[in-house]
Formats: sequence, C-alpha cells, structure tokens
Amino acid sequence: MPPRCSAQARACAEAAFRHCYPAYAATSSIDRLRASDYARLDQLGQVYLDYTGGGLYAATQLQKHHELLSSQVFGNPHSTNPTSQAMTHLVEQARAAVLAFLNAPAAEYAVIFTPNASGALRLVGEAYPFRPGGELLLTADNHNSVNGLREFARARGAHFCYAPLRRADLRIDEEHLTQLLGQGQAGAPRLFAYPAQSNFSGVQHALAWIGRAQEQGWDVLLDAAAFAPTNRLDLSRWQPDFVSLSFYKILGYPTGVGALVARRDALARLQRPWFAGGTIAAASVLGDGYVLAAGEAGFEDGTVNYLSLPAVTSGLDYLGRIGIDLVHTRVQCLTSWLLAALGGLRHRNGARLVEIHGPTNEQLRGGTIALTLYDPAGQQADERQVEQRANDWQISLRTGCFCNPGAAETVRGLSAAELAPIFQTAEHLTRERYQQALAGQRLGAVRVSLGLATTFADVDTFLSFVRSYLDRPAEPPSPFVDQ
Ligand SMILES: Cc1ncc(COP(=O)(O)O)c(C=O)c1O
Repeated sequence: MPPRCSAQARACAEAAFRHCYPAYAATSSIDRLRASDYARLDQLGQVYLDYTGGGLYAATQLQKHHELLSSQVFGNPHSTNPTSQAMTHLVEQARAAVLAFLNAPAAEYAVIFTPNASGALRLVGEAYPFRPGGELLLTADNHNSVNGLREFARARGAHFCYAPLRRADLRIDEEHLTQLLGQGQAGAPRLFAYPAQSNFSGVQHALAWIGRAQEQGWDVLLDAAAFAPTNRLDLSRWQPDFVSLSFYKILGYPTGVGALVARRDALARLQRPWFAGGTIAAASVLGDGYVLAAGEAGFEDGTVNYLSLPAVTSGLDYLGRIGIDLVHTRVQCLTSWLLAALGGLRHRNGARLVEIHGPTNEQLRGGTIALTLYDPAGQQADERQVEQRANDWQISLRTGCFCNPGAAETVRGLSAAELAPIFQTAEHLTRERYQQALAGQRLGAVRVSLGLATTFADVDTFLSFVRSYLDRPAEPPSPFVDQ
C-alpha cells in the first residue's frame, strides 16, 4: 500500500482548512451521510475523484428503488391496464420532479427522457431546422456530444463556428463572443450551444449569455451535464431553449436516463426526421402518413427506461433534502483549498510540480480540475502513467482529454493549420497515428472532480499522491498502442 499521510498531519491540515473555509462547517450533515449512505467508500479504501465522469449513489437511493420495484407490479406505461397506469403515474411524477429540481414552470418547459445527455443533444441536432443561411455557434470547450451537432448543421448547409478559449484561463473571450453573436442572418435559424460548466476545466460560463443571445435571435442550448450535479440551475431565472442532462452524473443512480428539458415553444419549432413507436398521434402504412404526438411524447422514441424513472424521483428528493446549495458550498470550499495547495507545490529546485489548466481559484468555476504534472527538469509526466499510479493508491481519477478536444488543443497551443491536415490524409487515422502526427505533443491531462460525497480526507489523499511526485524525474512516456 502506498504511503499515506499520518492521522496527525491530516488532522492539522483539516484544522487549517476549516479555519480558512468556515462555510464548510455548515456541510457537516454530508459528512454524516458519507459515514452511512456512502460508507462503502471508506470500507473499501476508495478515494473517488471522478464525479464529472459519474456521481455516486447513496445506499438509501438503491433501497428505496428496490423496495418500490419489489412491492409493486409495473407494466409498460401508456395503456389503461392497472399495472400500466401505475407506471404511467410514476413516469409523470419523474417529469414533475425534474421540473421541480430545475424550478421550471410546467407550462413553459417539457421534460423528454432520453438515455443520457448525448441522447438529448442528438434530439436537438437532428431536428433543429438548420439550412443554408442558418448558423451553429459553439464554444471551443464543448463536450464532443455537443461538437457533434456541427455535423447536422454541415449536412444541411448551415454555417458553424467556434468561440475560442483564452489559453491562460480557458475562458471565452467575451468581446469575441459578442462579435460572433452579432453575426448571422436575422430570421434564419441560429443555435448557440455551450456548457454551463466545462467538463475539462471546470470553467463556468455566464448564464447571462442565454438572454443576450436570445435577444439577438439565437436559440440557446445549455449543456448542463457537468454543471447540474453541484450547482443550482434555476429555469425560472435563466431560460435557455434546450437543456441537456444525465441523471447518473447528478445522482449516481440510475444510469441510462437523461433528459432534454426544452421550452415548449422551441420544441414546436423542431422538425423530427422520423417517427417511432410511442411518438405518434396517428400513423398509417396504407395511407403513408403520420402525425407526431404533441409535446414530450413526440420525442420519446419507443419505450422509455420506465423502471428507472422512479429512482430519478427519489434520487432528486434525496438530493433536495441535502440541498444543492449545500453541496455547492462544500465542493467550492474543497476545490478552492485543493487549487491553492496544488499551485503551491514546488520541487526542491523551485520548479513547479503542477500546472492547472483553467482558473486557479474558485471564482466562476466548479469542482473539476484538469492538470499536468512536471518533473524538476520541466518534463511532463505521462498522464497514463499517473493514472496507473493513482490506481495503486485506490484513487479514481481520469486522464485523457475527456471528450473535450477543443479545451485540450487550447491548452497545448495547437492551431487549425496544424490539426486540419491530419484529418485530410487518406490513411485511416488511428489513435496511434493521430498521436504520431501531433509530433510528440501530448493532448492528455489528469482530471479530478469533486462531488456530493467528497470529504477533506479524499482531497488530502490526492494531495499526498501528487506530493509523491516531488523531486522525481519523469519516466519516459509509454508508447501509444491502438486497442
Ligand atoms: C459537459 C458534458 N456534456 C455532455 C456529456 C455527455 O454525457 P453522456 O455521456 O451521459 O451522454 C458529458 C459527459 O461527460 C459532459 O460532461
């Protein structure tokens, strides 16, 4: 087992932390939950720091769901038989719980259940009325499931462009964004898609952009997948046209359920490319016609993941009883401490150990931190080797570019002129070839992300792990091998 810091050193560090962050004391109810509902973490010696990858469920969330399923009989919803009606009632209850979680008025917003956030994004992409003269504006730190929307725009002749990130802090240059929002044909369909929180850097973009863009004729898609688990999103205050979510990121359980939360008027402007079971009011084979069902039903293809939906309701109820603002406060205190501690680490020769990619304090950022480790000679540690070593410490972190190539390319200062030709070669581009073409530039970083059940001890163990790199020469990078 790798060396961990002594209990006394940890107690001293925690006292110093609590002194610096008095607001943390108000979150002690979460420490009690960690000891009961999340006890398995400490029983198994696991340090979980991948909340942006997926949240963790509380033991009572599972119990509640299993009690419901094992004591009732549920059938496929949307029929009049008793077991179907019982299920329909719970599906509608889950919709209402999602609206309540987002403080979204039911008259204005519809909740469409999807398999995940990507499913929600795809629904918008394939049905948005892109056409020549139309526009898609993206930020460079979008997740690939948002970047992929550009292929729908391209296929239908719409123009797309990216608002770039500043390399220093991975934020968007507001002036540049203002310029981009001012362009495009008035009256043509224009969609602006951005993450409320970057899953790479933790940067939180201004929600005020929503109204500003709409005033200029844009529809706004807010990707809240990385934001919603630890921040309040109030749709009575901020009114994006579309919001994408994955519930496993917010609640840990269930997986396989996401949502597109859409303004009803925006939904009515979408043009679905097909129909499926469950989405139609009427369809005919001989008559060669169909009419889509109104509202959310017209977008839920086939049977929703109905048995999982009551777990969304009870999970949101569980989170509501803790309070999303309390989770936010806790994550903010721990993130701030961690950022300061990482930033202060120096090798004996004075060289920095850690480069943080993104904001180095807690202002306008969430609990996701991307970083690179350097040895005393300034040699970058291979992030895959860092992950291997973290595995030995039972620390769950993530490495790579986290499906967010735009942020990774900005970090490494790569340009379109360098990258575009790589994709124009006739050769099938494998991961290995791509890495070779980057001529030694490593796109990957290390990412830790904090969440509901994170404790000071988790953060402190990670710090001990990082300190174990002090004054150590970097190992030669591992070769890239295509799987
Ligand atoms: C910001 C963001 N958007 C979208 C997604 C895609 O979510 P999913 O894989 O659940 O579809 C993720 C997943 O990490 C994300 O972090």
